[in-house]
Amino acid sequence: MKNRAPYYHQIGKEVEVFEHAYKNKIPFLLKGPTGTGKSRFIEYMAHKLDKKLITISCHEETSSTDLVGRYIIKGAETIWSDGPLTNAIKEGAIIYLDEIAEARPDVIVAIHSLTDHRRELFIDKLGKTVKAHEDFMLVASFNPGYQKGFKELKPSTRQRFIATAFAYPEAKIEAAILVNETNVDKDIAKKLVNIATKIRNLTELGLAETVSTRLLVDAAKLIHSGLPKRLAVEVAIVEPLTDDLDVVEALKDLCNLMI
Ligand SMILES: Nc1ncnc2c1ncn2[C@@H]1O[C@H](COP(=O)(O)OP(=O)(O)OP(=O)(O)O)[C@@H](O)[C@H]1O
Ligand SMILES: [Mg+2]
Repeated sequence: MKNRAPYYHQIGKEVEVFEHAYKNKIPFLLKGPTGTGKSRFIEYMAHKLDKKLITISCHEETSSTDLVGRYIIKGAETIWSDGPLTNAIKEGAIIYLDEIAEARPDVIVAIHSLTDHRRELFIDKLGKTVKAHEDFMLVASFNPGYQKGFKELKPSTRQRFIATAFAYPEAKIEAAILVNETNVDKDIAKKLVNIATKIRNLTELGLAETVSTRLLVDAAKLIHSGLPKRLAVEVAIVEPLTDDLDVVEALKDLCNLMI
């Protein structure tokens, strides 16, 4: 039996688009800033399509070996061990490469033949090519704002994916998400969303990234569990955003007025 579906509030047409992408096995790119529901969306879709999801959080050291597999020493023997990507290809899972632009260039090279009509992976250490299972699909995420201009994806990579942009939901939907996720009072949810909207519009603060839905969820959880509202907002919204003391003070004042 399937376990309960992860809660995901649809923002636009992304569910429909993903279903068609899956039917056609077109690689899918989720673009958008931190905390906008990308991971939650793919968990929800994997559950909806009843497919296993394998998530890899890519970072600077993530290499194709980590994904494809490696020889390991077991007792007196050296044996081959498939990596998560190879496993996903063989068993027909959905693989989610979170923050794909962070990974080393050989990862991008490795997935090229998987993300076009060939749908195959060349395992150079085995001198072998593996064809993807018909249920296999590759999904990746990418945060365009982050470290501007530094880690970009080349057009030859990007154009292998269809892409959906994730952003902060409109106020009503975001408040509904807070209530659903945390059981916080509707009125408090509304106030938290108003605070977020206000801060998101303060572009002159020069924040690297602004208030995400994730931060609002955290603030709502703290309030729902009984932490005083002002303190909850300070630790869940203001402090995570910046270390600039003047900005912290200004944001605290603003939040205190609004909560
Ligand atoms: N549309 C949504 N439906 C339900 N919950 C949401 C939605 N958007 C955001 N959330 C809430 O925000 C939290 C953060 O979302 P998520 O982890 O999916 O963000 P993300 O885009 O993957 O961020 P990152 O880029 O940092 O990995 C979720 O745990 C959930 O509580
Ligand atoms: Mg995520």
